[in-house]
Amino acid sequence: MAPYFLAFSKVALAIMLNIGVCVCQCPDQSIAFNHACYEFSTAELGYAAARLYCAERNGTLAMPRTAAVDAYIVGILQYSGYQNGYWIGIEPSGVDGAPMWADDTPVFGGLCQYSAFAEGEPNFPGLTLSRMPQQCAMIGTAAESGFLWATSTCAYSKRFICQYGAGDQEDCSDIGLVRPDGRCGPDFPVLPGVPGVCDVIGPAPCCSADGRCGDSELHCDCPDCVDYSLVLVPDCPPGYHKLKDTCYGARLELANYTQAERACAEDGGTLAMPKHLKTDFFLIGLMIRAAPEGDFWIGIDDRRWEYNHMFADGTRLAECAFTKWSGVAPRDRAHFLNCVMYLPDVGYFWHDMSCWERMYFLCQMGPGITDDCEAD
Ligand SMILES: *[C@@H]1O[C@H](CO)[C@@H](O)[C@H](O)[C@H]1NC(C)=O
Ligand SMILES: *[C@@H]1O[C@H](CO)[C@@H](O)[C@H](O)[C@H]1NC(C)=O
Repeated sequence: MAPYFLAFSKVALAIMLNIGVCVCQCPDQSIAFNHACYEFSTAELGYAAARLYCAERNGTLAMPRTAAVDAYIVGILQYSGYQNGYWIGIEPSGVDGAPMWADDTPVFGGLCQYSAFAEGEPNFPGLTLSRMPQQCAMIGTAAESGFLWATSTCAYSKRFICQYGAGDQEDCSDIGLVRPDGRCGPDFPVLPGVPGVCDVIGPAPCCSADGRCGDSELHCDCPDCVDYSLVLVPDCPPGYHKLKDTCYGARLELANYTQAERACAEDGGTLAMPKHLKTDFFLIGLMIRAAPEGDFWIGIDDRRWEYNHMFADGTRLAECAFTKWSGVAPRDRAHFLNCVMYLPDVGYFWHDMSCWERMYFLCQMGPGITDDCEAD
């Protein structure tokens, strides 16, 4: 079994147990990703109107607080062809204009350490510099923007992304979730809306009904108790990011196909297998963030049987509905283009290449989304 299943994520635990927004069904137009639904507008609105649009649907502008959510969103945006940027839920606060998420938690120094601002951003003027028109945050989509976050004048009309549900915080660090006073649960938050938890590797891993960490029966074994040590949450190792129950990572080492296979196997996985459009979005976002323009191997080849491409786990491509060949691929005529890569020059389509080429690669740990494949 892959080692990552043994890791704890106290944050994920806290969210599962206490914040628990059920995103059983996403509101129309929106799509689910790790604990929230995201809606990508095609209409253009000023920031305030966009914010209101999301609020009226009980959501907020999107908060890409983790590399995983950011990668997923970026993977989708690169398909849009839209150049003006998409508003997201980051706004300046206070005198100094410190950026805050739409739920009033800080972007810097909060629970999650992730941000993807372009250099020199966010350019939020504090109150003292109020000559500048009000600035709001967007994900840039112009060619030179690299899909990084930037600020733009709030009054401009742009597309925007709404989020319904608390969202993914599984990549966030565990800092500060265990309170120094040993209290826990929703009545004893560490940040607004983020309950304190008990230290699962310490002597007091359970939370009693009245919100105290301990290890007696009253803490661990009653209807309203939470034994944090009993709930194992899969977590991804460093450099990997989660989509559902699977971890994906972009590896920036130059490797031929067999070397890449071996490197993924050493991490307990395989080369990444994009069997579903969602996986494809996610992998593209990871590549854009890791190495824009970079070439990456994925786990598809026809080394064994010409034109019978297989995923790294032996599933035949023909068993899955989703494929994404570039216009010319698969193009093997001479039996030497047997391994498959993402070709960024043509919008991240699949391209067959000789296996001895050296390039970056994408690894996967876990089953991935297999909905589009026939059951084996
Ligand atoms: C938003 O929440 C309110 C109160 O819970 C509910 O009445 C309303 O139907 C919700 N609106 C949408 C669009 O879900
Ligand atoms: C990849 O490189 C290794 C080490 O140089 C070599 O042994 C192996 O044959 C190469 N594989 C391919 C498919 O080129």
